[in-house]
Amino acid sequence: MNLTSVIVAAGSGKRFGSKKQFEPLNGKLVIDYSVEVLSDFGKIVIVARREDMDFLSDRFNFARIVEGGKERMHSVYNGVLASDGEFVLIHDAARPAIDNDMVRRLILAVRDFDAAILAIKAYETLKLSEDGFSVDTLNRERVYISQTPQAFKRDRLLEALKRALAMNEVFTDEAALWERYYGRVKIVEGSRKNIKITTKDDLRIVGCLLG
Ligand code: CTP
Ligand code: MG
Repeated sequence: MNLTSVIVAAGSGKRFGSKKQFEPLNGKLVIDYSVEVLSDFGKIVIVARREDMDFLSDRFNFARIVEGGKERMHSVYNGVLASDGEFVLIHDAARPAIDNDMVRRLILAVRDFDAAILAIKAYETLKLSEDGFSVDTLNRERVYISQTPQAFKRDRLLEALKRALAMNEVFTDEAALWERYYGRVKIVEGSRKNIKITTKDDLRIVGCLLG
């Protein structure tokens, strides 16, 4: 199947304190893990800040490196533009704990449904709050926590990204964009291990999980 993975790595890591995607993690860099797994499935596009583009071209000479944008969605757009093939996978460089198995399941789903994401069922009770008070409890059966990679039919995703950017609409992930323009996105069981590194604690936790 003709597929490109777009790994977004153009964030500045405000909450972490530095660019977490390039932190050392058990002898490698955080981004290395994602590149390694996703290279098995097709071409790689890495979206990065300008100052990191040279070092990334040296490190991953088989990948295409493109410059990111202000918001994550701008970075995704630049990456999708630089990709080709029928399908595109969008993945956060800050999520190193993916494995071939979950990617394979995601790809099977996107062939059938044009849009598929990894997600896990909410595993704790989720509260709706108002002014610091819990006012309602969500039905956990229906609530999922969204992860990456997320997979899409490339031409349709590109079209939706163009429309959103033209309207100045910002979506937190590509699934939200797809829901808005096209409708349903297939949910594929992810893993609790597939955490996104946001803080230093997350990096320590991922270090243990991968160790
Ligand atoms: N990202 C990107 N371009 C941006 C913003 C984010 O490519 N303009 C990437 C990040 O590098 C990361 C992923 O999107 O791999 C998820 O974003 P997030 O966890 O929010 O990372 P940062 O934006 O770097 O962190 P923070 O929000 O704390 O600044
Ligand atoms: Mg961010």
